[in-house]
Amino acid sequence: MNVETFPSGTGASGLTAGAAPKFMCRTYGCQMNSRDSEKIAGMMYALGFEETSDERAADIIIFNTCCVRENAENKIFGHLGQLKALKAQKPRLRVALCGCMIQQDIIVEKIKSAYSFVDILFGTFNLHRLPQLLRDSLETEGMVIDIWKEPVPKERGNTPDGLPTRRRHAYKSGVNIMYGCNNFCSYCIVPYVRGRERSRHPEDILEEVRALAADGVREVMLLGQNVNSYSPAGAAGFPELLRRVNEVSGLRRVRFMTSHPKDLSPALIRAMAECEKVCRHLHLPLQSGSTEILRRMNRGYTKEGYLSLISALRGEIPNIALTTDIIVGFPGETEEDFRDTLEVVDRARFANAFTFLYSPRTGTPAAGLPGRVPDAVAGKRFNALLDTLNKIILEQNTRLVGAKLEVMTEEEKGGIFTGRTEDNRLVHFTAGKTASAAGPVPGEFVDVKITEGRAHYLIGRQSDDQTGSYDGAIF
Ligand code: 5AD
Ligand code: SF4
Repeated sequence: MNVETFPSGTGASGLTAGAAPKFMCRTYGCQMNSRDSEKIAGMMYALGFEETSDERAADIIIFNTCCVRENAENKIFGHLGQLKALKAQKPRLRVALCGCMIQQDIIVEKIKSAYSFVDILFGTFNLHRLPQLLRDSLETEGMVIDIWKEPVPKERGNTPDGLPTRRRHAYKSGVNIMYGCNNFCSYCIVPYVRGRERSRHPEDILEEVRALAADGVREVMLLGQNVNSYSPAGAAGFPELLRRVNEVSGLRRVRFMTSHPKDLSPALIRAMAECEKVCRHLHLPLQSGSTEILRRMNRGYTKEGYLSLISALRGEIPNIALTTDIIVGFPGETEEDFRDTLEVVDRARFANAFTFLYSPRTGTPAAGLPGRVPDAVAGKRFNALLDTLNKIILEQNTRLVGAKLEVMTEEEKGGIFTGRTEDNRLVHFTAGKTASAAGPVPGEFVDVKITEGRAHYLIGRQSDDQTGSYDGAIF
């Protein structure tokens, strides 16, 4: 298919003659989905489309969906409902849905019956089919549905790699190192919608990272549902991959997510400690501090195991910042279980946390467990957890006042620059006297003197001198 298929100015978009047709892609969910959307954008540009953020100007609207919690699905259905009127006004508008949510049969049935104006449905395993599906949709009546139950055939590489990509940011990028998950945590739908673990070959990953670095990328985030079980056929595991990525010239920072506590090896801790580009930050989902709840979640570690892992990490990498995910209100969670979570939070000194109310997912084992925690009780616990976390994070950020931290600039709004420290803290800062007239540009590394610490970010100004570098302990 090419651009001609969407003749401009024919009523499809109201574009002036000669202008490129437009696509809009809305991304829901995690970094995996964000990276997939960069591949979607890459394919659309290769077809001659340009991106728009205005639904009314779009010839194609693509929703890349998430189903990890019910509220994500509700939000998507809400946004989808709003497209119905637009589609009635512009019959040639194409609406496509893809991603995790579409891998569920019940969702496909619901879309077929309640949102029949949708044109294309495809899943997580066949992203690369988008151009063909678009063509099919233009040539046929009715909904085009192409959902695979497993990854692409082995002879084609078994992963959706090698697609053109269009990065959201010039200076940073995600890089998929593996797909899928084998852990089957009892609450989680990911293994059902993203399939079993498949690891990319290290040479392919390194080639991609080198190309990104050559293209101006300063920070890469290695992506996998559980990077600690990265196991490519005939090649070494994640610690060795990290060491090799660390050697790519041009890169300044290497991050990765997500690590499962049950698989975090001493070899990985050592690699993190020894690789200077690997950031002093680890996202290590706790989920619950109660050993009994962890058992029912099928997490494979205990409260004590998690705490001793943290001690080992801090022993080897002083000042490492830990962030986490926590679920409140898992079936059967008692006050005592919840107090265990608060205790671990208190002892772990997390630098940030994503907190979630448990959401039953059809088809997962936990959805059938007895002991549903009433909403009011779960809500109260959720707020208590936030209070505890915010207090701990504010303490850390307050202790950073006066420190000089290296920040990678990400954006600017009204003279205020925003970026992140090596340990992933958000910093809002003003430009220094020595900065160029426009101030630091996205991707530029600057030293920032911290003047104020808040619970969710730091405030500072770009430093004009080279003294006062911070290396103290804040935990
Ligand atoms: N309910 C609430 N939170 C969930 N997560 C995954 N599944 C569920 C669920 N059913 C959270 C976990 C995971 C993060 C990405 O989403 O904390 O680490
Ligand atoms: Fe879900 Fe557990 Fe796999 Fe993470 S490790 S994606 S929480 S099943």
